[in-house]
Amino acid sequence: MRILFRHIKSLTGIGQPPAAIRGKDLANANQIEDAWLLIEDEHILGFGKEGEQPELPTSDQIIDCTGRFILPSFCDSHTHLVFAASREEEFVDKIQGRTYAEIAAKGGGILSSARKLAAMPEEQLFRESMAKLDKIAASGTGALEIKSGYGLTVDAEIKMLRVIKQLKASCRLSIKASFLGAHAIPPVFKENREGYIRLLIDDMLPVIQAEGLADFIDVFCEQGFFTPEETIRICEAGKQIGLQPKIHANQLAVSGGVQAGIQVGALSVDHLESMDLEAINALAASDTIGTLLPTAAYFLRMAPPPARQLIEAGAAIALASDFNPGSSPAYRMEGVVSMACIQLRMLPEEALQAATINGAFAMGVEKETGSIHPGKLANFLVTNQLPSLAFMPYSFGETSIHQVYLKGRLVKTA
Ligand code: NIG
Ligand code: FE
Repeated sequence: MRILFRHIKSLTGIGQPPAAIRGKDLANANQIEDAWLLIEDEHILGFGKEGEQPELPTSDQIIDCTGRFILPSFCDSHTHLVFAASREEEFVDKIQGRTYAEIAAKGGGILSSARKLAAMPEEQLFRESMAKLDKIAASGTGALEIKSGYGLTVDAEIKMLRVIKQLKASCRLSIKASFLGAHAIPPVFKENREGYIRLLIDDMLPVIQAEGLADFIDVFCEQGFFTPEETIRICEAGKQIGLQPKIHANQLAVSGGVQAGIQVGALSVDHLESMDLEAINALAASDTIGTLLPTAAYFLRMAPPPARQLIEAGAAIALASDFNPGSSPAYRMEGVVSMACIQLRMLPEEALQAATINGAFAMGVEKETGSIHPGKLANFLVTNQLPSLAFMPYSFGETSIHQVYLKGRLVKTA
């Protein structure tokens, strides 16, 4: 089935860059004004400018897009979507002055999510995660990375990863799985960190390898969680079974996490709220992508990550939601883009490219999605009739998305 979209006000985010877009180039999204776009079944077939060819290709259906923009679907390269329960009691604790680190140190936070997840049967966890995924797809996200890390025992980590594997097979989104067993030290190993690290490496990784349960390895490299040395050791063990590192770094403190990530060849280092000049320059000089999570910084009342400094230094940056019950109970990438513009002073085009093609690079799906290019998946958004692209992040209280197409099929219409 061929569908032809005509009279598109602007077809934005076209082309296939060879690598994640860095520095000043992020502000230049390739676009064609007054464009057409042809898709066939699951894929993009071609596009062009109205009036430039005497005859447009034939199609089974024509959709008029007068006044509307078409953009690639969002690629959310950092989420903790599989969780058993919300944590609004901590939200109230934080209002009353307790910090994320204090809550975590008293057995709340990640450990509280782990207790709840351990008690939930795999089948229920899958059903509830699937319901979240449907809402995420309708909000305009076409590719998603999902982490384990609320298990912290062999059984519960493997349960989470099996749920993610089942999600991969059950939905239209492109999904990648990250093994984040090193998310926190579970209480039984409090006096025996080495024992937990051995459990990760000797007991969890072999099962993950045997069942093909993960694409990436993640570590929460942070004071009170895992040190840079431990991070390097765990990532190296993951690399032995083909998992590329993609780590949590420099969220709560300047921890050396960025440099540790670069040293192990991480695809991305994520968070970066706490950066010094050394970390900024090291990241800019590397191939590692810096993934910024503006809703998490906002929710924890942290200083926003230094997006402008990173861009000016020439780093490649991506934007993601960090969707999780503790620090970012929000999956809407439109909201992430708005917050990146408002709090991080990213330009609308910078934020949109960071949330699409650079997000795709940050989760290794850049060949299939993240931009409008012949042969790539027909994953895109049709906006409302908008005065300009900047209206989308500007109008932060409402959605600008009219329709969402995933693999060529309409999954949401306003
Ligand atoms: O990315 N920082 C570590 N992990 C998550 C939060 C997890 C949680 O609080 O449940 C994050 O912010
Ligand atoms: Fe996270």
